[in-house]
Amino acid sequence: MKPAGRTQITTPEALPDERVTDAALRPSRLDEFVGQSKVKESLQIAIDAAKQRKEPLDHTLFFGPPGLGKTTLALLMARELGVNVRTTSGPVLERPGDLVGLLTSLKAGDILFIDEIHRLRPALEEFLYPAMEEFHVDVRIADGPHAQTIPMALERFTLIGATTRFGLLTPPMRARFGLVERLSYYPPDDLAQILVRSAGILAVPADAAGIAEIARRSRGTPRVANRLLKRVRDFAQVRANGKITAQVAGEALKRLDVDEFGLDDMDGRILKTIIEQFDGGPVGLTTIAAAVGEDPGTVEEVYEPFLMQRGFLARTARGRCATGAAYRHFGFTPPKSAEQPTMFDG
Ligand SMILES: Nc1ncnc2c1ncn2[C@@H]1O[C@H](COP(=O)(O)OP(=O)(O)OP(=O)(O)O)[C@@H](O)[C@H]1O
Ligand SMILES: [Mg+2]
Repeated sequence: MKPAGRTQITTPEALPDERVTDAALRPSRLDEFVGQSKVKESLQIAIDAAKQRKEPLDHTLFFGPPGLGKTTLALLMARELGVNVRTTSGPVLERPGDLVGLLTSLKAGDILFIDEIHRLRPALEEFLYPAMEEFHVDVRIADGPHAQTIPMALERFTLIGATTRFGLLTPPMRARFGLVERLSYYPPDDLAQILVRSAGILAVPADAAGIAEIARRSRGTPRVANRLLKRVRDFAQVRANGKITAQVAGEALKRLDVDEFGLDDMDGRILKTIIEQFDGGPVGLTTIAAAVGEDPGTVEEVYEPFLMQRGFLARTARGRCATGAAYRHFGFTPPKSAEQPTMFDG
């Protein structure tokens, strides 16, 4: 028997430890940030230019599916620029007043990071426009017929926004970002590199084949890769001799319901629902979400982008369709219509 201490990962007391490791795994410098070479290159150029001119960086927007490194990039940009960063997010801001304190606390060059910026209320968005463009805000000091606003000057700061839903950002907001960078799913080789680094930090022995097995099944997503690494580490510790090999990783991932392609239980339910209950589609998002018991936003933001990228799902003008690959993956014979769905990414 092994001592229970380090293996009780599902108990609530273990949660703070999980959070500590999450922070430890987050790269803090641009050269530790693996992959996304085009994004990194344009950021490096923008950082170097801003430093040379001793000017604040242009407002920057990161978008892409969850877990690909948007927050990580925002935080490490501050470090690269040697400035402070204040963090908030769209849904927690209720009134313009909530932003005033944040904005006025920024020194020249500092970064204001707004996560989930597509969820900013319209009033706040409009309040931000002059702040972003002319570095001033109009602060309301009374309500009703005697309402007054006083203009307030701000230091030249940088706004960094992050969103999983570029399409939901209003055009005037988009237009105010000088740098707009899209993060895409990582190829297995990049994920393997991230996993090697994480395994080093967590001090878990793993061979190349074990790492490759996790990388291949991580939905192209660093957050998923790190999470699976921790679960496989537990399995290796309790059921094997502690080392992550291809076989150990394979067994552990099978127990976690992560299949050969990295599809998990919910991916499977979404695709099988479309195939079995709706003849392969087209079927609407809310119908699918209700059938699998998941929130439509989560289905659209988290599951669909990956399933489309892997060619299992197509969005058509009339709804979602399962592709021939999806039929075959689950052992069904695809109908002719499933082989060439019209792609309509909107
Ligand atoms: N390029 C990378 N190299 C190494 N680790 C990475 C990289 N990108 C992300 N990670 C790891 O993945 C985790 C998730 O990244 P992050 O929180 O930045 O994602 P996100 O895009 O902000 O997700 P969300 O949309 O859910 O907010 C980080 O804690 C970090 O450890
Ligand atoms: Mg984030």
